[in-house]
Amino acid sequence: MNVADSERAATGLRSSGYDLCDSVDEADVVLLNTCSVREKAERKVYTRIGEVRAARPGKRDVLVGVMGCVAQLEGASIFNNAPAVDMVIGTRATDRISSLIERAQNGERKVLDLGERGNTDAWDVSPAERHSPHVAFIPIIEGCNKFCSFCIVPYSRGRERSRPASEIVTEVRNLQALGYKEIHLIGQNVNSYRPRVEDGLEGFKGATAFCRLLRAVAATGMPRIKFTTSFPRDFHPDIITAIEENPNLCDWIHLPVQSGSDRILKLMRRGHTRNDYRQRIERIKNSRRRLALTSDIIVGFPGETDADFRETIDLVQQCEYDSLYIFKYSKRSGTPAANFADNVPEQEKKERFLELEATQRKTQDRIYQSYIGRTLQVLVERQSTRSENDLSGHSTCNKVVNFAGDRGLEGEIVDVTVTAAKTNSLYGAVANSVRVNRSVVE
Ligand code: 5AD
Ligand code: SF4
Repeated sequence: MNVADSERAATGLRSSGYDLCDSVDEADVVLLNTCSVREKAERKVYTRIGEVRAARPGKRDVLVGVMGCVAQLEGASIFNNAPAVDMVIGTRATDRISSLIERAQNGERKVLDLGERGNTDAWDVSPAERHSPHVAFIPIIEGCNKFCSFCIVPYSRGRERSRPASEIVTEVRNLQALGYKEIHLIGQNVNSYRPRVEDGLEGFKGATAFCRLLRAVAATGMPRIKFTTSFPRDFHPDIITAIEENPNLCDWIHLPVQSGSDRILKLMRRGHTRNDYRQRIERIKNSRRRLALTSDIIVGFPGETDADFRETIDLVQQCEYDSLYIFKYSKRSGTPAANFADNVPEQEKKERFLELEATQRKTQDRIYQSYIGRTLQVLVERQSTRSENDLSGHSTCNKVVNFAGDRGLEGEIVDVTVTAAKTNSLYGAVANSVRVNRSVVE
């Protein structure tokens, strides 16, 4: 979501006449986009402000702005903590950045905007500002109404707001015309998608508005469609039916569970039990397409006992995730859980983290090994950072796949037969040279 926000901010700035540059030395304005989901991410911004100032010693002409979640949550107190900051730009002020800069340039000090979005806010992102010429992020819903007890997002991003489906479908069509091969529908909870208007969903059936949107987006013919993140409580089995009906809806589901213990899930206010979650997983695992499954887990939530943690280990073994993002609980002030005693010692959090990681590694090694000999469709995104002779991309099941190939294949979807499995990536060789040669000639 932060990458999408940066793309959007860049689009707005460029259309207001600004040039974007990569180096602090050349810049007249430096904007730092920030994350506050865990304390470590939040602390980073202060380090970075110091670095920006150090890179421009004695120069007061460079304006420094903080945007994103830290800006929204800390507001004016950022000016006190970091006097070098001139502008604090909240999460719904992306469309107003250029006018905020203008105010700062005209001499206004400590420019602050924590306001809501305007009715006419633009979501367009210019292709030049997208992070990739082949893969595009499309926000479909912003904000969150779930208020999980540990999470700062409902406070930093505000309430859920869904974009009209007609706008999303138009964006997908435009991207397709530009040659994009893959889109990710993104949001804190994509399956809570609930637009105020029907536009763009007419004629598409589904158990929920999100299921209808998936079918509407699939009907555009965009070659690959992925979506993240899904929220377990609202995860309707019709999502899987839509995936089974449409080959361009990719075979990957990210469904964060956070804990395997019902007692902890209740304290987390997740609105689902372990069993509810298992039922969702069963539908995913029983699909006639093999669907990759990934998740997020927090270890060391306040009051998490060893017995609770054993339940998490057990659930992770049962779910057989393709990969897992593990986080040590981080207290976020303003959330309900911040009033619970953060009583799992740091050393214990670390040990649980490592044990869960080792447990996941065993399953993951087995899953990754099972891909050897199989052929995957890989969207070639770039040259590999490891070797000049290799290309790198993602499979439809969202695995990183590297293989030997010429850079002329960038942007193509290539069949790759897997020859080796690493911890977090697969290695392979082009399977169908006839098809590949033809693509190159085209
Ligand atoms: N501490 C640790 N991890 C957190 N996450 C969200 N809030 C916290 C927190 N306070 C994790 C959750 C979420 C992911 C994006 O970040 O696992 O799914
Ligand atoms: Fe945070 Fe829960 Fe909302 Fe996810 S669903 S963004 S964890 S409050």
